[in-house]
Amino acid sequence: MIDFKKEIAKVLTDQIDQLEYDQVLEMIEIPPNPQMGDFAFPCFKLAKTLRKSPNIIAQEIVEKIGKADLFEKIENAAAYVNFFIDRTIFAKSVIEEVFHQKDKFGASAMGEGKKVIVEYSSPNIAKPFHIGHIRTTVIGHAIANIYNYLGYHVITINHLGDYGTQFGKLIVAFRNWGDEKEVEAEPIPALLRLYVKFHEEAEKNPSLEDEARLWFKKLEEGDEEALRLWQWFRDESLKEFHRVYDMLGIRFDSYAGESFYSDKMPKVLKIMEEKGLLKESKGAEIVDLEPYGMPPALIRKSDGSTLYITRDIAAAIYRKEHYDFYKNIYVVGSQQILHFQQWIKIIELMGYDWAKDCVHVPFGMVSLEEGTMSTRKGRVVFLEDVLNKAVEKTKEIIGAKNPNLENKDEVAKQVGIGAVVFQELSNNRIKDYVFSWDKTLSFEGETGPYVQYTHARACSILRKAEVGLDEKIDYRLLSNEDAMNLVRLIQQFPTVVADAARKYEPAIITRHIVDVAQAFNKFYHDCPIIVEDKALQKARVSLVYAVKQVIRNGLALLGVAAPEKM
Ligand code: ARG
Repeated sequence: MIDFKKEIAKVLTDQIDQLEYDQVLEMIEIPPNPQMGDFAFPCFKLAKTLRKSPNIIAQEIVEKIGKADLFEKIENAAAYVNFFIDRTIFAKSVIEEVFHQKDKFGASAMGEGKKVIVEYSSPNIAKPFHIGHIRTTVIGHAIANIYNYLGYHVITINHLGDYGTQFGKLIVAFRNWGDEKEVEAEPIPALLRLYVKFHEEAEKNPSLEDEARLWFKKLEEGDEEALRLWQWFRDESLKEFHRVYDMLGIRFDSYAGESFYSDKMPKVLKIMEEKGLLKESKGAEIVDLEPYGMPPALIRKSDGSTLYITRDIAAAIYRKEHYDFYKNIYVVGSQQILHFQQWIKIIELMGYDWAKDCVHVPFGMVSLEEGTMSTRKGRVVFLEDVLNKAVEKTKEIIGAKNPNLENKDEVAKQVGIGAVVFQELSNNRIKDYVFSWDKTLSFEGETGPYVQYTHARACSILRKAEVGLDEKIDYRLLSNEDAMNLVRLIQQFPTVVADAARKYEPAIITRHIVDVAQAFNKFYHDCPIIVEDKALQKARVSLVYAVKQVIRNGLALLGVAAPEKM
């Protein structure tokens, strides 16, 4: 694909002695409206050095360039030099690139040889996998896909919350009131009930707390009974989590959770000690972070047990040693911003210069709309229920609108789950939001189903086309404004993907493919595609093909399926 921006920078640099190529490249803008050209170069900065008005400079540059190959015209308007790309060359260059790259259009090799860890989802064992986890799960999945697409070697890690004193409580609760069959039938709700029961009973009988501490200690020391129960809770919980991951098409390379680091703690504590970082405070050990404007970090409790933060430090060191990452990315809610700042600082103080490569990617909180209830008891909305409901609702819609569709059930899954995922990825991740069933199950407007439907429409046109796509396409026939808008959006796709990676923001891709879908629907409305004139049909069909491919690639990065019929 011709990189027009770079071509423009070359043409300009030839005429401007005062600026280097890279500076020129930086200054080139995309005008807010195509009537002002496809690209524009502002001359304000040059005015000072040249002691001329920017308008005059713009005019002079235009005169000096004269005619240039790739452009229909180059004009000046006020202080800008506006470049109008030759539409035929533009359309040919972009569409041929899509033909060529297909599922790889937008991909690159920029990450070659670099390992990136994406840690996401990381739910706590024996706790509900609820709506609060959906964000880390789908944002993390998308970020992993995007980095992979850019050629990085991505390693996905699910840092399960599978360690800590709560497991002592669970063991005590199970031994007192548990029922094996119940746990097997519905592990998470059953374990949750036991956990709640433990707290109720402990109010009345505080000695239960001591018993729980004792059982956690046994677990740490490798007691057989404690280990067996813990392993069982973990396995059963994972089975449940996997049902949701399967629905979302997610697999992790590693499930090394907090427990994985329990035996790696002594070494970490030793390094901290050697570096003189540990301070005693009421029998416990802390790292003083006051000089960095942060509260102290509690590293080891007075009873010798380590904490969540200690395990994060151990995990980061292990990952560096084991994977030698280029970047170690954590997709974890914004409530934990301080936690990440603290431990990354500690890593830095321990002398690890790769502390800067640990990146916390936070996202806003999900709260529940007033009166929101789960289908099961309690004010918890299970992620699985949300996905299932979305699928059910989609089944109803398909049943009414397209009862003869093949693979109805499969498509309902793709669309229903796609709708939930797409919505999660529509807003900038840092925004808080309120969960509402109505909103989640509404498919109106700029939603996943809308984009998926546009893709299916493009597929259907391609099936109906009477022309084959070969080299003999007359791209002059795509010079109208509707077609050009589409070509522009398609051309931007690779930049959009790279931008989403740099900002860890999948929503940039979501919004872009909504724009593509909207531009396509306008084109489709204004320009009939299956027309008598075979040359015109061929040109338009080539554009439909490119649109289909870009939407498909974008959806794949977001972790959303693109059914061909719906
Ligand atoms: N298990 C934690 C929770 O559910 C999230 C873990 C985040 N990852 C980490 N490395 N601290 O809140």
